[in-house]
Amino acid sequence: MVGTDLLPTTYSVQGSTALVRHMDKINLSQKLSLINDHWSPRIIGELNGQYVKMVKFKGPFTWHHHETEDEMFLVVKGRFRMEFRENGSDPSQPRKQRDVWLEKGEFIIVPRGVEHRPVADEEAEVLLFEPASTLNTGNVQDEFTVPKLEWL
Ligand code: NI
Repeated sequence: MVGTDLLPTTYSVQGSTALVRHMDKINLSQKLSLINDHWSPRIIGELNGQYVKMVKFKGPFTWHHHETEDEMFLVVKGRFRMEFRENGSDPSQPRKQRDVWLEKGEFIIVPRGVEHRPVADEEAEVLLFEPASTLNTGNVQDEFTVPKLEWL
């Protein structure tokens, strides 16, 4: 038997708290069509204290790291390069750098504490999955910083 009552839109949690759960599916292309800028992530989902975000990349981002958050980057369209460096802020140490190209359908997880910057020679469309507390520029405040993200 199939009925709409099998797809509730509200839950009662712990007897009294009513949460509205949007169990509608999300279409990435539709969400991406609403984004007309670069480096400004939008929230498209939330679960377990993490956000699912969409963002368009173009050009080089800013070097940064995150003290407490790991970040996941999944390429939906296009490609980009994740650049990593060690000793980036210590000129007395030899700087080690590594680049990882990410193609459509590929993802990478950047661990907390690792200095990184995404670079997209052509526009790339990317899904992010990371804790809700994550600031896009991590430990850095500059013109790329988006302190408060909007929902799409
Ligand atoms: Ni980051």
